[in-house]
Amino acid sequence: MAEIQLKNVSKRWGGFVGVDDFNLTIADREFLVLLGPSGCGKTTTMRMVAGLEDPSDGEILVDGKVINDLEPKDRDVAMVFQSYALYPNMNVYENIRFPLKVRGVDSSTHDAKVRRASGMVELDEFLHRKPAELSGGQRQRVALARAIVREPNVFLMDEPLSNLDAKLRVSTRAQIKNLSHELAVTTIYVTHDQIEAMTLADRVVIMKNGIVQQVGSPTDIYDTPANTFVASFIGNPAMNLIDGNVEGGVFRAQNTEVRGLNAKDGLITLGFRAEDANVVETGGEINAQIYTQELLGDSTMVSVRIGGALVSVKADKSYRGEIDDQVSLHIHSDHCHLFDAQTGARLKS
Ligand SMILES: Nc1ncnc2c1ncn2[C@@H]1O[C@H](COP(=O)(O)OP(=O)(O)OP(=O)(O)O)[C@@H](O)[C@H]1O
Ligand SMILES: [Mg+2]
Repeated sequence: MAEIQLKNVSKRWGGFVGVDDFNLTIADREFLVLLGPSGCGKTTTMRMVAGLEDPSDGEILVDGKVINDLEPKDRDVAMVFQSYALYPNMNVYENIRFPLKVRGVDSSTHDAKVRRASGMVELDEFLHRKPAELSGGQRQRVALARAIVREPNVFLMDEPLSNLDAKLRVSTRAQIKNLSHELAVTTIYVTHDQIEAMTLADRVVIMKNGIVQQVGSPTDIYDTPANTFVASFIGNPAMNLIDGNVEGGVFRAQNTEVRGLNAKDGLITLGFRAEDANVVETGGEINAQIYTQELLGDSTMVSVRIGGALVSVKADKSYRGEIDDQVSLHIHSDHCHLFDAQTGARLKS
């Protein structure tokens, strides 16, 4: 059992703020993903939970007990890093067994524990090999098995898939999801890959410049982004964002007129997702020339430029246009997201 709480946790180095007033309760057995661009404070947050970094302010609690002063080794956490950090001279079996030796776990139990962990990540055939004789994906799984063997209450994983190729990432991702379910431990997982976040997480925390932007389920974050940063970070392609002016419920921008909006008069940023719009014969809300077209197999992505911003719409897979063709795009006002033009914050509708 491990519920993790971060209360007003900050990390500063001199005048620089790496993590700013982080507040969150992570439920026992929850799979929490920290997501955000490079330098936003993900690793720092995780290292504070692990005890590798002291918070400048605030408290970290596990099951209601403050752990700020506990040494990393006394915290019941296992970490998996981006670099596997395997011992090159030990074979896979010894690498996986290593944490049991260090922690003085009864040696009569080692073999069963190592084999259980290696079985979970499908490494049984490779136990005698040295790390140098393994592929990147296999090494990554050794690192996972070495964390599993400890039977921790908390799993901390920092970009564990970033060294893998695209295909292996997808299969290892599936394995991690299944593992976390089977092991039923609280997991904090760091990534800057929004697809990884969406597929793995019970909840996602999106950070920018050390500040939490939104906490929510993948669906919450996708359907109701709290601001334009989140809207443009989640989804592939990112949400279309157009700056314009509202007057009497009608939004206008270059080549764009959307009626029936429930918004006050003034400047706003209007957002919509590529899949919530389509290409029509005529009479759409956006009328512009095709800037580019991409065949994706299951659909055709058609993009136009509105005031410098690229606006993409998912058309039927059979749709074919040409660059510079005049095209009409339809968006229903119900599918529009409205944001404050200055702050980027979502406007209540
Ligand atoms: N020891 C340190 N001293 C000063 N600044 C630091 C230190 N460690 C990290 N930082 C800064 O704190 C910020 C957050 O770093 P952090 O490693 O948490 O980012 P991250 O979100 O994990 O990024 P990435 O995706 O690149 O790994 C960065 O701007 C980084 O330069
Ligand atoms: Mg990092």
